[in-house]
Parts: sequence; C-alpha cells; structure tokens
Amino acid sequence: MAGASTERYTPVAIALHWLIAILLVGQLAGGFYMHGLPKEQAELKFELYQLHKSFGVTILFLTLIRLGWRLTHRAPALPDAMAAWEKAAARGAHAGFYVLLVALPLAGWLVVSASPLADSVPTYLFGVIPWPHLPFFEGVEDRRALSHEIAEIHEYLAFAMIALIVLHLGAALKHQFINRDGVLGRMLPFLKV
Ligand code: HEM
Repeated sequence: MAGASTERYTPVAIALHWLIAILLVGQLAGGFYMHGLPKEQAELKFELYQLHKSFGVTILFLTLIRLGWRLTHRAPALPDAMAAWEKAAARGAHAGFYVLLVALPLAGWLVVSASPLADSVPTYLFGVIPWPHLPFFEGVEDRRALSHEIAEIHEYLAFAMIALIVLHLGAALKHQFINRDGVLGRMLPFLKV
C-alpha cells in the first residue's frame, strides 16, 4: 500500500459521519416518496411530512455539532500521492456537503414557514417538541405561491446533494480499489484498511 495514510478520524467524527449519512439517505428517499403520495393517502402523507420535518431538523443539529467538531479538531491530512487538484476537489466536495447540509434543512424550514398552513398546523418534532415557524412571511399576499417556489429550491438542493453523494462515493471507492491508499479506512468504524 504505497503512500498509505494511516492517521484516522476521531471516533466522534466517524460516528457523526455515519449517523448523518444514514439519516440523509433516508431523508432524501422519504422526501421524494412523501411528496409523490396521492391526496387519497392524506393521513399517511401528513404523518410522513411531520417525520420529515423532525428528521430534517435533527440533521441540521447534528451538522452544526459536526461543523463545531471539525473546526476544533484537525482532520487527517490527505495522502501526499494525491495531485494538488485532487486535494482541492476533495476539500471543495467536503465544503459542499457542509453548505448543503445546512442549506437544505433551512430551505425546508422556510417552505413550512411560508406555507399558508403555517399558522393552523404547528410543528412538533417527533410529535413532542414544539418547533417555531420563521416569522418572515406575515404580510405576504400569496404565501402558497411563495412556499411552492421555495419548495422548488429545496428540491434542487436535494438533487445537488444526490450528485455530491454519488461523487463522494465514487471518490471513496477509487481511493479504496484503485489508489489503495487507506483513505476509506480512516472513516470506517471497525475496519482498519
Ligand atoms: C437534510 C435535510 C433534508 C433533506 C435531505 C430533504 C429532502 C427533501 C426531498 C428530497 C423532498 C422532496 C422534493 C420534491 O419531490 O419536490 C423534500 C420535500 C419537503 N421537505 Fe425536505 N429535506 C430536508 C429537510 C427538511 C426540513 C428541515 C423541513 C422542514 C422543517 C423540510 C420540509 C419539506 C417539505 C415541506 C417538503 C415538501 C415540499 C412540497 O410539498 O413541495 N425538509 N425534502
């Protein structure tokens, strides 16, 4: 394993990485599924929307904790064998994840807050914790249209997230099977590659 990189991420960084990854995949799949449900399944749709909001806010909180951890704990250096442009691309993709992981839930929160239903349907995370709606939309005339427009932005951000996940997965597999430089193993909880 030439130029192998043996320094690992901290257990906290590894735990947050995989917890957010699992929640994120579920959130993306669940988001498209609930959105596509027909009106006849209004009850299920409503329940799934409540869960979507709850998990979305959870992802936002976990991301803020992760960002705090990242800013106070140095990540292991990338292997020397990587070209400068590859290192820049990796750093850019990682920054892109943080931007999307904050922007996506914030956009979702704006969708719900702008909706004309915001006043009559309060949000309770996991049915228990009251979660406020953002107060920017009080005087807006057509809140329905505005909420739809923000929902489109939320959807585009979800597509951008899927593209980034595919890129990230591809890069991880390239490190593991082509470069064989141990980069994937640094983020795996059990396997030391
Ligand atoms: C990382 C977090 C999140 C991800 C990955 C995510 C992903 C998605 C996806 C894929 C959709 C379906 C888009 C479509 O088919 O148009 C969706 C819809 C939706 N999301 Fe999120 N979401 C997240 C966070 C949130 C949060 C925090 C809220 C609210 C507090 C929220 C509220 C909504 C709503 C209301 C819709 C339905 C929009 C509509 O009916 O047009 N999302 N989300």
